[in-house]
This record gives sequence, structure tokens and C-alpha cells, in this order.
Amino acid sequence: KMDRFVANLMAKMTLDEKIGQLTLLTSNWESTGPTMRDSYKEDIRKGRVGAIFNAYTAKYTTELQRLAVEETRLKIPLLFGYDVIHGHRTIFPISLGEAASWDLQAIEKAARISALEASAEGIHWTFAPMVDIARDPRWGRISEGSGEDVYLGSLIAKARVRGYQGSDLSRPDTILATAKHFAAYGAAQAGRDYHTVDISERTLRDVYLPPFKAAVDAGAATFMTSFNEVDGVPASGSRYLLTDVLRHKWGFKGFVVTDYTSINEMVPHGYSADLKQAGEQAINAGVDMDMQGAVYMENLAKSVADGKVDVARIDAAVKAILEMKYRLGLFDDPYRYADEAREKATLYKPEFLEAARDVARRSMVLLKNKDNTLPLAASAKSIAVIGPLGNSKEDMIGSWAAGGDRRTRPVTVLEGLQARAPKGVSVAYTKGAGYNFDDAGKAEGFAEALALAEKSDVIIAAMGEHWNMTGEAASRTSLDLPGNQQALLEELKKVGKPIVLVLMSGRPNSIGWAEENVDAILHAWYPGTQGGHAIADVLFGDYNPSGKLPVTFPRNVGQVPIHYDMKNTGRPIELGAPGAKYVSRYLNTPNSPLYPFGYGLSYTSFTYSPVTLSKASIRPGEPLTATVTVTNSGKRDGEEVVQLYVRDLVGSVTRPVKELKGFQKVMLRKGEKRTLRFTLTDADLAFTRQDMSWGSEPGKYKLWIGPSSAEGSETEFELTQ
Ligand code: IFM
Repeated sequence: KMDRFVANLMAKMTLDEKIGQLTLLTSNWESTGPTMRDSYKEDIRKGRVGAIFNAYTAKYTTELQRLAVEETRLKIPLLFGYDVIHGHRTIFPISLGEAASWDLQAIEKAARISALEASAEGIHWTFAPMVDIARDPRWGRISEGSGEDVYLGSLIAKARVRGYQGSDLSRPDTILATAKHFAAYGAAQAGRDYHTVDISERTLRDVYLPPFKAAVDAGAATFMTSFNEVDGVPASGSRYLLTDVLRHKWGFKGFVVTDYTSINEMVPHGYSADLKQAGEQAINAGVDMDMQGAVYMENLAKSVADGKVDVARIDAAVKAILEMKYRLGLFDDPYRYADEAREKATLYKPEFLEAARDVARRSMVLLKNKDNTLPLAASAKSIAVIGPLGNSKEDMIGSWAAGGDRRTRPVTVLEGLQARAPKGVSVAYTKGAGYNFDDAGKAEGFAEALALAEKSDVIIAAMGEHWNMTGEAASRTSLDLPGNQQALLEELKKVGKPIVLVLMSGRPNSIGWAEENVDAILHAWYPGTQGGHAIADVLFGDYNPSGKLPVTFPRNVGQVPIHYDMKNTGRPIELGAPGAKYVSRYLNTPNSPLYPFGYGLSYTSFTYSPVTLSKASIRPGEPLTATVTVTNSGKRDGEEVVQLYVRDLVGSVTRPVKELKGFQKVMLRKGEKRTLRFTLTDADLAFTRQDMSWGSEPGKYKLWIGPSSAEGSETEFELTQ
């Protein structure tokens, strides 16, 4: 039925109307790059645009939709897209924070709620999930993805696609997902946004592509190209990525949109002589929809006339887009997503706010807890909240919270603690320090902070980065606490009161001094609308922290890139004595990170039994079961993320020292033991072999199950032929 409908409609379309369907324009000026057209309403009326982004609310999308369905010749409804990244109105923790929960159900639920809110406001399509693997904390967009790991990132990609799209796109409360940014955007040289990507084909296939493949497998409706080049070809002009891999190899059936003006940017990249050629290269490579560049709108008809672009290619792109509009039910009712009553009843529902609070506390990672400083002791009668993030509403929701209210809704750390503090416990605040780069060297506010610290039982240092220091175009060359926060922390230490650092940022920071000197550290990311309550839940022990790092924390920026699944090298440090020369090490910093991937503490403790295997060796296709018993050996109920890693000892190409291949997040009552089983087959051990084929190789493997990538009980098995 859909095929016939779309074919009939396309038979009536002129070339210009077809090109209109390939054009996506922003509806306002809140943009992340040059705005090419301010005449979008006129463009809609003329059928020159098929999709709009940055428009929401039932009222506004209805107004724009009316222009398309009442004033254009063919009445083709518009598709409304928006950056619904970690919540729409109710904001969840930033994506990297959500990833730290290692809780796929919670992550899927956050995406589902985002879709419920967004769809009630007329939005059909989110530009999420971002599934870029990111291993460089200098890169501001590390905050928007799921961290450094291929396996975890792939599972989260699927969970998010399921959350947005549900199982039935024709329901008006589901929205199209976009896997972005295709591809390898996270590998920008020196962590500088939009910079060149130059990685091996093997790394592309083994590290950067798998989460995109996972998104296709989960049914992602759309893909967004990345700004960067890969091996000399801008992604928006890469036939290899967009057609050979995405469509032919993976069987993707949806449509591909560019990132913002990225077709235009092929000119400064030095890949296209002018916009006309850029448009030809993009459409012929496999880009279906042009975001904001108006390149297709202004050049494509001429390119067809010149014989540079085949109408069949344009037809394929139009068909893919119209099919999505059809699947959303827009041809039956173009206004079905824009319902003011539903909008009113849906936004900020109490259960959404409760879910945001729950996901936020699940995402927090306890990095240090000397002598059980946390949860806060009943004897702490006066709490000092100090730091620029202590009472800041705008920071709580982080970057890319496009539809989020930054001014009134977010609950700050101070507000959360005040709301939760038992009777008789005072919570006072002073900012003390600044986090802007130009605050460095200043000491305004220090005296007040020190005076408050003196008269308090415990200091909650709410420090980190301004929300705008991560996200797009927010790269840094330092990972330190910006401004004069570090200096204040050092002064506070001299007061001699217990210090809990509540860190809020969207990247791994180098907090080596804090690790050595403060009493407890909780990474809260940017925790979202309910962030202050979630932080209070953790600090007072109403929730026992269970997050684990989805990304390695370096000791300093000089270690970057650093990730747990690096290669051993021919001169690994283990071969040499400490301080040895001619091994692969730094003179002034250990090779090990400050905190490894998968690391995170709890208020209880867990002990692991040795791992047992169902067999010492397996053949291809045969399952291997690894079993471990985990005991909650501490004094509180708690959740643990039990992680399984393997190492392929010898390969046709060198292999990483560890790779995550499984995990289970389990709740254990105090004293409870649970036996957990993980099943692997050789398919889980596959990689790009020397001849570039995908598959596993026979040989010996090590296997660990443990609480992080740096610990675990070890065993070995063999894969035979
Ligand atoms: O979706 C985003 C993308 O991640 C970065 N450039 C702008 C797009 C649309 O807002």
C-alpha cells in the first residue's frame, strides 16, 4: 500500500517539488552555524522545503504544517525535526552520564519519555542518538555520546533507537531516530571539533562503525552525516560510507540527512570547486536530505539538466523521505503530532520528573570515598555548599538540552540538599570561585567560602565546567578544573573539614589533586532537570551509587588518547622495571589512567569468586559459558555492574589488551550472593582480520570478569578451528 501511494504521488511531482522534499531548513535563528535562508515560510508555501527543524510546540508546528498542506500544490506534509538529545522538556542527564548508568532499561526509558514529550509538541524526528565513539576528552562532543567503548556504545545505540521509535512508527507518540554523525566524527585530530579524521580502515571498521551498524539493526529510520573528512573525503561526499557500507553492506532503508551546511562545507574542505559540484557529490554519494545548506534547492535542477545527476538518484532519495512521512501517518493526518491537549497533559508529567531523577542518580559515579565520608553522617549538622555549580540552574541540564528550560525548572545542588536535609541540619551556600577561563588567578569570594567552611561540618564542593564548555564547538586543550576552582579547593583543604567534590562536567577531567586530597568525589555529569534532588539522594544515601565510567579518566591531557582497549606494543611497561628506559612509557606520568573505564564505587562492597568456564576450548558456533558468583559483602543493598572482558592473545593483526564483551547490572541485598552466567561464541570475538575480512581467529584467549576494566578474576580458553 505504501509503495503504491508513494509511487502515485511521485508520478505527480515536478523535479522542483522533488528537490523540495530533499531540503531541510531551520525555522529560526537559534542555530549552530550560518543560517542560509530566513525565508523559510515562503519556501514552505512554494513547496521548496520538505522538512523543518527547530520548530516545536503544537501551535507553531500546526501553523507551519498548514502552509504545506493548504498552500502547496501537492499538499505534502512537512516533517519536523529537532535535537531531542537527552530529554525534550524534562531533561535527563547528558548522554555520557546516562551511559555511565550502564542501565539499558533506564536509557531506553529516558529516550521513550523524550519521544512522548517531543511528539506531543509536533516533533516527528529527533537528531539522536549520537553514537560516535569518543576517546578524546578534549573534544567537547564527548558529552553527547556513550563514551569510548564499542560494545557498550552499540547496546546503548540500540536502546535509544528503541526508546525513540518504539515498535510502531505509526503511533503518534513515537519519533524517528537519527544515528549520527556518520562517521568517525569522534576521531577529530587533537580533539578539535570539525577537525580532520585520519584513521586506518581497520580502526574505522572495528571501533567507529559498529555502533552505527547496531543502530541500523535496531531499525534507525535516519542517519546524519558528519562534518569531518575520513581518509581525505568529507563524510557528506563519501560514497563509500553512505552507499557501499550503509546501504549495500548494512541494508539501510531509511534516509540520510547531512549535518548543518555540511554539503556547503565541502568547498572549504577543498573537495568541491563550488556549491553546485558539492551538491552533485553529495547526492551521488548517497545524501538524501540537505540540512540548511540550500545547496540542493539552488543547484540540483541544473545538475540534472547538465547530466551530472541522474533523476533516478533523486527519486530514490525522495522515495525514502516520503516513505518515512507515510510511516508516521502524516498523509492520513498531518497534524496528528500537534495536539495542544496532549501537549498540555504530557509535558513535565510527575512520572517523567521522577524518571529523570532516577536516571540521574543511576548515572552518578562515586570515584572516591575515603573512610566512608559518604553517605553524609548524621553528625553532619551544618553543610557548606561551595562552588560555581552549587546553585546554578543553567548548568544542571548541560549542553544540547535544546527544548529544556535552563532558567526556572532545574533543581540545583543547594535546592536538592535543602529539600532533603533532615530537620536541624543547615545547608548554606556561597559561590567562592568562578569556572570561566578568565577567573583563573582571581581570589574574589575565597574569604567568604573559607569562612563558611570554618563553621560547617562538611564541605560539598560543587565544581566542574560551565555547561557551554562541552557540546558542539567546545573543545579544550586542558582537562583541568577551569577558572580558580582548583585554587579554592586547595584553600578549602587547609580548613581541615571533610570535602566532598561533586563534579559536574561533560568530559573526563584531570582531577589528580582532588583524588589525592579530598575525601570523596562524586561525578554527577550534568544531571538534568531533577539533578539537585538526585545528588541529594546519593549524598544522603537514599540511593546507593551504581554508575561506572563509560570513558577513561586520564591523569593529565598529555596521556590523551587513552582508553582501556589499547594495544600492548612491542615494549610494554610490564617488561621493564619501574623507571626503566626503552619501554613504552612516559618519563613523568604513569601509563595508567587516573580512573579506568568501567570503574565506580558503591557504599557497599562486592566480592567476586574465581571465574569458571563451561569448557576449556570451543569450536566456531559453539557457546562458552563463563560463570562467576558475586557477593554483596558490605553493609548496604546495592547494584553492581559485573563486566566481562577478553583478550585475543595472538592475531593476524595485533589485538587490544582487553575488550568488553558482556556486562550485567545486578541488584544485591546486603549479604546476598548471585551466580551470573555469560555466554560467548566466536561471533563475539570477531574483528577485521589482516585480509580485511570480518571474523574470529583460532587461538588462545584470556577472559576476566570483574568490577572494572582494571580488575577481575582471570581465566583462559581456546578457540579451535
Ligand atoms: O543535530 C545537530 C548536529 O549534531 C550538529 N549540528 C547541528 C545539528 C542540528 O541542530
